[in-house]
Amino acid sequence: MASPPPSTGPVRLVVLLSGSGTNLQALIDAIGDDPAAYGARIVAVGADRDKAGGLERAERAGIPTFVCKLKDHATRAEWDEALTAAIADHRPGLIVSAGFMKIVGPAFLAAFGGRFINTHPALLPSFPGAHGVRDALAHGVKVTGCTVHFVDDGVDTGPIIAQGVVEVTEEDTPEGEAALHERIKEVERSLLVEAVGRLARDGHRIEGRKVHLGHVGE
Ligand code: GAR
Repeated sequence: MASPPPSTGPVRLVVLLSGSGTNLQALIDAIGDDPAAYGARIVAVGADRDKAGGLERAERAGIPTFVCKLKDHATRAEWDEALTAAIADHRPGLIVSAGFMKIVGPAFLAAFGGRFINTHPALLPSFPGAHGVRDALAHGVKVTGCTVHFVDDGVDTGPIIAQGVVEVTEEDTPEGEAALHERIKEVERSLLVEAVGRLARDGHRIEGRKVHLGHVGE
């Protein structure tokens, strides 16, 4: 599977989130006022809840936002279709899950499979799911980190684009999940900015499970 040939102009990004949006902010800051140099621009930010702090960050940056809540739909499939339609309105080239705490469904993956990426706060394939930091701490690992990956129909199982490592120290107790998560997020923000920029500027191809950045068509 290969990315489409480079089109004219920056790649259109839709960012999905549920939380404070510091990863979104890192993308906004990296793009700055020169989307052409970065290779991408954020055309919309979507959330699954009203109170996601990331929505305010988007609004402050003048980026359109939308909210698509599971509880506003009769079934999960209807929610999945509504989310897919809301994103499609913005004609994205890439969709970035930056702390979006929902699993997308078949309609979403049919529309955007192969161009939906996620950032996860653990070194996949270890500790997938909603509690990657907590689960890694509870397991007693000595290193953990973050993973940017393509999303497939599993939970955090898609091909890995980039990973960053963070040491776990003696001071990291199970109660210290938030502090470790903050250290992971410092690495994660740079990793995500770098990975999205490389995908946008250089394209990619996937062989088996291996993602190759750049060299499209070789
Ligand atoms: C990030 O650490 C991201 O990896 C995590 O949520 C955080 C969002 O931070 N996502 C998951 O745990 C998904 N399973 P942010 O709102 O400050 O960008």
